Amino acid sequence: MSEKLFEPIMSGQLELKNRIVMAPMTRSRASATGVPSDLAVTYYAQRADAGLIVTEGTQPSANGQGYPRTPGMHSPEQIAAWRKVTEAVHAKGGRIFLQLMHTGRIAHRLNRTVDGPPVAPSAIRAAGTMWTDALGLQDHSMPRALAEEEIPSVIDEYRQATINALVAGFDGVELHGANGYLPMQFLASSSNRRTDRYGGPIQNRARFIIETLEAMADGAGSASRIGLRVSPGNTFNDIQESDPLDLYPYLAKAINHFGLAYLHVQRSEKLPQQEKSFDPIALMRSHFEGRIIATGGFDRDSAHALLSRGEADMVGFASLFIANPDLVRRFRTGAPLAQADPATFYTPGPKGYTDYPDHTSVEAA
Ligand SMILES: Cc1cc2nc3c(=O)[nH]c(=O)nc-3n(C[C@H](O)[C@H](O)[C@H](O)COP(=O)(O)O)c2cc1C
Repeated sequence: MSEKLFEPIMSGQLELKNRIVMAPMTRSRASATGVPSDLAVTYYAQRADAGLIVTEGTQPSANGQGYPRTPGMHSPEQIAAWRKVTEAVHAKGGRIFLQLMHTGRIAHRLNRTVDGPPVAPSAIRAAGTMWTDALGLQDHSMPRALAEEEIPSVIDEYRQATINALVAGFDGVELHGANGYLPMQFLASSSNRRTDRYGGPIQNRARFIIETLEAMADGAGSASRIGLRVSPGNTFNDIQESDPLDLYPYLAKAINHFGLAYLHVQRSEKLPQQEKSFDPIALMRSHFEGRIIATGGFDRDSAHALLSRGEADMVGFASLFIANPDLVRRFRTGAPLAQADPATFYTPGPKGYTDYPDHTSVEAA
């Protein structure tokens, strides 16, 4: 049953031992200065049976932080702490990519260590609220529009963070271009009203992502260590895309020659029916020539079916990995799956993070 999921596959230069990807998940357990704790070492090592782990969204610079207690990849302390994570995962035969997440306008000033408003393509506040430890739920802060001459330095932060990630022992780095964060804010006309080279027609709105991928590949020495995550049509974080069926094929064709490790496509199962006008996985499959990871609402059987039809090369699982650190083994044996508690998704400490047991230890108890 579900054998395809367990077949090894090459992604970039890496051989992955199976096609099960632990999808990126913010868990908000780092220190106030963005240093991952030793709990993160345990958490990721517990899940190293995945063919590939993609870490939680990690800010490339202090300026990229929007949420409380998210980790960074821009200080020596952060690099040293991440090194413990990569060593623990590698010791168990796992592979691990760092996800770089610059939240742009999805931020609150109380969650940030730098003064001043968050930056975005345009000064348009995102509707909605986010958690702050000091004052609970708050409206997103009003962002400031990046000046055109500042954009190279933002892109350079991704390059430097990629270099740092490889120093920390990561197998590669994923650019978070999904879910309404900075790169997607550039893609979408609802959040990008610029009139310079980075706004207006599709070619301009895609420029930020393309230049960032180039910088990251340059930092890594090879695009084969870089992945990109996108979520065409996703309205999360107050994004409305006017032309996804033109924009994403354009983007795929523009990056095909890079030779990325993979394109990670997130579909949104939770979108209202009327918004599900197209299938983002099928859309990207028909235009992107490299490996595709598909994520969003999959279980073992639907993942197996997708891979068997050749519609993706690997499948990402997020929430299932929270309560099932041994998810790969449970898929293999058909053992029952535990349910995660959403109340502890983003709370500090081990509860709901490193204390979910393996199925074998549940049976033995
Ligand atoms: C607690 C939690 C945190 C998440 N954080 C991130 C993140 O940091 N970066 C990201 O790209 N997606 C993030 N996601 C989205 C997941 O990677 C995934 O795309 C989504 O949960 C759908 O997959 P699933 O149905 O297997 O859970 C998060 C999801 C959850 C449940």
